[in-house]
Amino acid sequence: MRGFASGDFVGTWLVSAYPWLKALHIISVISWMAGLLYLPRLFVYHCRAEPGSAMSETFKIMERRLANAIMTPAMIASFVFGLALLSVPGFLANATIWLHVKLALVLVLAGVHVWMLRWRRDFAEDRNTRSEKFFRVMNEVPTLLMIAIVILVVVRPL
Ligand code: HEM
Repeated sequence: MRGFASGDFVGTWLVSAYPWLKALHIISVISWMAGLLYLPRLFVYHCRAEPGSAMSETFKIMERRLANAIMTPAMIASFVFGLALLSVPGFLANATIWLHVKLALVLVLAGVHVWMLRWRRDFAEDRNTRSEKFFRVMNEVPTLLMIAIVILVVVRPL
């Protein structure tokens, strides 16, 4: 597109699409959090099911569908729309330390996501060695991260 400043075009588009990008970001984040809060809860009850039993096989299906059909696509969408919001002209210039701390906590949340996928694979291969209590504690980690992230981005205390 010779002679047409594509940067200006993209920037103008991002500014006009900003409310939609934020709405899609929040929708993606809610879906991602739903998966991060529900999967460890399934692990808690899966610990009580005998490996190879009908109940254990049912939990495997639920965990696989939650992870592959909701949690991982929602995480990808949260990043895509979040990075699009970061690219809105002038946004980064006006952001202060709250954004850096938010993004650091989001990376920790993504790390928790990856660990949950590993634990899901352990259950799927009847190799889980972690306790029900371990997953009850792990269930609280995404909750605490979510509370901190939302306070940072809405209240901006830093
Ligand atoms: C995945 C990486 C993420 C990036 C790059 C990102 C980036 C952003 C940016 C740039 C905004 C716009 C802020 C504004 O318009 O003033 C925003 C809004 C928001 N983000 Fe994220 N975010 C990410 C993940 C998350 C997560 C995991 C949560 C919640 C657990 C979250 C919750 C929110 C909320 C609630 C808003 C709306 C804030 C408002 O309207 O005042 N974000 N995000």
